[in-house]
Amino acid sequence: MISASAARPTLDRTALLTWYDRTRARSRALFDLLVGDDVYYSQPIALRHPIVFYEGHLPVFSFNTLVKGALRQPGLDAQLEALFARGIDPDTTSVSATPPERNRARWPARDAVRAFAAEADTRVRAALAHEDLDVPGHPMLDRAEAVFTILEHEVMHQETLLYIWHRLPLSQKRRPAGYQSHTAGRVPVNQWIDIPAGAATLGVERGTIPFGWDNEFGAVVEQVPAFWMARHNVTNAEFLEFVDAGGYHDPRWWDADAWAWLEGDAVQHPLFWERQDDRWYWRGMFDLVPLPLAWPVYVSHAEATAYARWCGARLPSEAEFQRAAYGTPAGERPFPWGDAAPNVVHGVFDFASWDPEPVGTHPAGRSAWGVDDLVGNGWEWTRTVFAPFPGFRPMESYPQYSADFFDGQHFVMKGASPATGRELLRPTFRNWFRPHYPYVYASFRCVRNPA
Ligand code: AVJ
Ligand code: FE
Repeated sequence: MISASAARPTLDRTALLTWYDRTRARSRALFDLLVGDDVYYSQPIALRHPIVFYEGHLPVFSFNTLVKGALRQPGLDAQLEALFARGIDPDTTSVSATPPERNRARWPARDAVRAFAAEADTRVRAALAHEDLDVPGHPMLDRAEAVFTILEHEVMHQETLLYIWHRLPLSQKRRPAGYQSHTAGRVPVNQWIDIPAGAATLGVERGTIPFGWDNEFGAVVEQVPAFWMARHNVTNAEFLEFVDAGGYHDPRWWDADAWAWLEGDAVQHPLFWERQDDRWYWRGMFDLVPLPLAWPVYVSHAEATAYARWCGARLPSEAEFQRAAYGTPAGERPFPWGDAAPNVVHGVFDFASWDPEPVGTHPAGRSAWGVDDLVGNGWEWTRTVFAPFPGFRPMESYPQYSADFFDGQHFVMKGASPATGRELLRPTFRNWFRPHYPYVYASFRCVRNPA
């Protein structure tokens, strides 16, 4: 690991191996939640690979990037390295998932995947233990870029795994002993909080933080006019009013392509909601619970946008989010709550829970202006289209990481969800998805012009 303060950080191999092993152990624990044989070849989300892919992808990506790519060591098996290399949007036009029997025929047996993953893993550990990982001027090893790339990549995918697992039948998941979601909670009265005009920093200059993904560089300072931001995320209770008011049946609130999505996929409510015997339920990670009214609603960007319009409000821009989350009357700081390293009192992140918790229950994480839960308990949609900052350069360790998504079809999400590792909580980290992708742990809140 690298000390954040040093201008030229030094690598601590022991800390690095501990970090790597801790991350690998958590991935293993997530696979251990799965029950039965078929589930491994199932494909809970048609737009993503079947589950089998991910068990190979994690160590293979690390091997390809660090051992083969950066350190130029020989490969293990060209075919398997290619098979498990990339895992995003395998086929954006397919709408129905391949059945498990077909996937079983197309993909290697689980034993073979595990054996190959273990070999790749051994080589990655050996590299972390013995190789020169921080090489000034090296395209992939300057400031140990490839090392951070593989570690943060795996942490990011743990969230991918969880939102995929979320769609599985409950009978295919093992509930961790003693886990109980926190459903009880009073729905707070939402309030507008006045955020004064001021500067917001987006992005950061290269070389000033230990590691960032390419889309986080360079720094842009925006002057943000005063605005009002809702103190809380939109709750299930609030969103229910929109549903009950016929919001999903009124084209006034929806862009044309969003309306076509609603009609094409017969979308009538958030994906996390289920209707049984005239009652609403929330599909939790391990159980179906009566709709927890105080939880933030999880919805796609299109649904968030429609709700905001119905309210006469809008989604925040990325700059407004930054201003609300990191701004203070005296300048900016690294977390909404200040300088302290993130911990469980500040919010619901870093796998603190398998589900959301009632909004407003982490007052220690409040921003300088008094806005709750900006980091944690669900990502926050913005109205900003995902695009590079000036001076963008694709990173050598993963040139397609962001560049493939600068297509005007993705929106920026900020903050964090319960399944976002603490490594990713820095203010410049950006996430992005298409506006009709309903699977992720994404919430939102509204902003408006001051009265
Ligand atoms: C940054 C979360 C949008 O899951 O598509 C993982 C992360 N990229 N492997 C994704 C990613 C390649 C990416 N997101
Ligand atoms: Fe990946």
